Amino acid sequence: MTEGEQLRLDNIANTEHDIFALLRQRYSPRVFKSETIDKNHLNQLFEAIRWSASSNNLQPWRFIYAEKGTDAYQAIFDCLSDFNKTWAKNAPLLMLTAYKEKTDDGKENFHALHDLGLALGSMAVQAQYMEIALHHMAGVDWKKAQAVFSVPEGYHIATAVAMGYYGGELKDLPEALRDQETEQRKRMPLKEFAFKESWNGRSASY
Ligand SMILES: Cc1cc2nc3c(=O)[nH]c(=O)nc-3n(C[C@H](O)[C@H](O)[C@H](O)COP(=O)(O)O)c2cc1C
Repeated sequence: MTEGEQLRLDNIANTEHDIFALLRQRYSPRVFKSETIDKNHLNQLFEAIRWSASSNNLQPWRFIYAEKGTDAYQAIFDCLSDFNKTWAKNAPLLMLTAYKEKTDDGKENFHALHDLGLALGSMAVQAQYMEIALHHMAGVDWKKAQAVFSVPEGYHIATAVAMGYYGGELKDLPEALRDQETEQRKRMPLKEFAFKESWNGRSASY
């Protein structure tokens, strides 16, 4: 792909088995179209979150999102790692994700982070349907973000997410990241994580 050429929905997974097209097409770009995410699309993304499964239906997920050009966007951006700052500026929307740490009766909700991830998985599929990409980021100073946004005690910021419609141009990326953007995505084979009847052939005590 030459510099300046538009990227398409084209970093399609080379799957071993046939899967739902939206899952094959999803990937984590570092360039986006510059256009703002449509308000209805944004509502649909959060509606997809809303109907996710969660342990005891506790719905522990919380989000702060902001559009490019606002002080809040800049504040989220300022919490990102130096690496993420090199490309996340391409995203028209930045979001912080958080989870509620405890159940309503004060016990630690061990599954809260699981449920946040599951909900973001739903959002990713809904987003893909609307040609919107999510790029999750662990590289965020969560303590700083908690302070800047006065996140109440009992909630923990987990990640930041860069979001926007698929598109953009390779020249929007630092040179070092351009090849990575279009190279074939890799995964470990099924046999390395899906074990039938025992942990990777180890004898069980049942
Ligand atoms: C929880 C989480 C944290 C991530 N953190 C970062 C990050 O800080 N910076 C980054 O560039 N990509 C980050 N990624 C993106 C992964 O590197 C990416 O999902 C992985 O390489 C697989 O690529 P794909 O999503 O295009 O299939 C993160 C992904 C997840 C799910």
